[in-house]
Amino acid sequence: MKTILVTGGMGYIGSHTVVELINKKYNVIIVDNLSNSSVEVLNRIEKITSIKPKFYELDCCNINDFKKVFIENKIDGVIHFAGYKAVGEGEKVPLKYYDNNLISFITLLKLMEEYKVNNLVFSSSATVYGQPDTNPIKEDFPFRVVNTYGRTKLMIEDMIRDYTKANPNFNAAILRYFNPIGAHSSGLIGEDPNGIPNNLAPYISQVAVGKLEKLGVFGNDYDTKDGTGVRDYIHVVDLAYGHVLVLDKLFTNSGLVTYNLGTGVGCSVFDVLHAFEKACGFTIPYEIKPRRAGDVAIYYASPEKAYKELGFKTKYDIFDMAKDSWNWQKNNPNGYKK
Ligand code: NAD
Ligand code: UD1
Repeated sequence: MKTILVTGGMGYIGSHTVVELINKKYNVIIVDNLSNSSVEVLNRIEKITSIKPKFYELDCCNINDFKKVFIENKIDGVIHFAGYKAVGEGEKVPLKYYDNNLISFITLLKLMEEYKVNNLVFSSSATVYGQPDTNPIKEDFPFRVVNTYGRTKLMIEDMIRDYTKANPNFNAAILRYFNPIGAHSSGLIGEDPNGIPNNLAPYISQVAVGKLEKLGVFGNDYDTKDGTGVRDYIHVVDLAYGHVLVLDKLFTNSGLVTYNLGTGVGCSVFDVLHAFEKACGFTIPYEIKPRRAGDVAIYYASPEKAYKELGFKTKYDIFDMAKDSWNWQKNNPNGYKK
């Protein structure tokens, strides 16, 4: 049985990935400082899988605390989710983002080197592509980062590229996620944003559950089928399973690999809204608002490379995503808070 250390494993994507890893009989160790998650997640993981993973509540930036995990466990691979991810906040407090995202990563890599752990999966983002000239977006498209959050992702990607070049025994996967939404079908784990959500799916869910009045649709005058922005939404369980597949690849001594994880299907804001309405069984109020600064019109992945090299194929469509988001939201109107 291989042991996988999951940093940020109590968070949205991390918790779903932990469940998929346990389903595939991995031994999982979680490290998280709970800066954007709840300790309740551990109980929920246990309810779903009947296994409570070993959990260390610590900050990955603190090398002395983090070292204990490497001393006490024989680790075969690491999936690094820990980091801050709110684009708007990163613009306001860039130092907080550079500090947490870069230092946590550098600390992790130093410990992996010291304890000879040679397999790493890193959560990057499609945000590194910025505004693409064309869609679908392939992995070799140019980098066009436009915000601090994206720059932290690109800097870490660069570190991984340099490090793997200098260390031929090191295997690393850079995964560029498109727009993860949805929740585990049990309704026990899901996305639990702090405060008013910035992203579309959690905003719609909170309107549907009555916590927010109506959705603001940011622009209906884009050059798209219905005038609203088009994105590549991917079910978080499909995304989580992609991590399991990529670990199999790393364990063949793959060296450095980079994949988009998306569906290849573009959905508009109205497509998403209507999928939620179908899932809830009632209409969800909205109003058209001005475009949001920095938004692009259309953005979706070419998932071909992940399909060819990993066999990665998504199972869930936009309705499944809406249904599972709604199931999570209606059963947990206040997220993990009682
Ligand atoms: P999340 O905030 O739900 O999870 C991140 C977890 O990391 C949280 O539980 C938080 O408490 C923890 N954490 C943060 N800094 C830490 C530190 N220094 N030490 C220990 N734990 C720390 O976010 P998520 O949506 O699950 O995203 C996971 C990763 O995927 C992030 O790196 C994010 O940038 C990346 N990503 C997310 C999306 C998305 O839409 N959710 C898209 C692309 C990439
Ligand atoms: C955002 C981030 C991106 C990050 C991604 C993770 C920005 C500018 N970009 O992408 O870096 O990787 O989340 O999921 O924050 N929309 C509305 N009303 C809302 C919210 C969103 O109409 O209340 C629209 C947006 O204009 C966009 C679509 O919904 O067309 C998706 O928006 P969102 O969920 O915020 O994701 P992205 O902007 O794609």
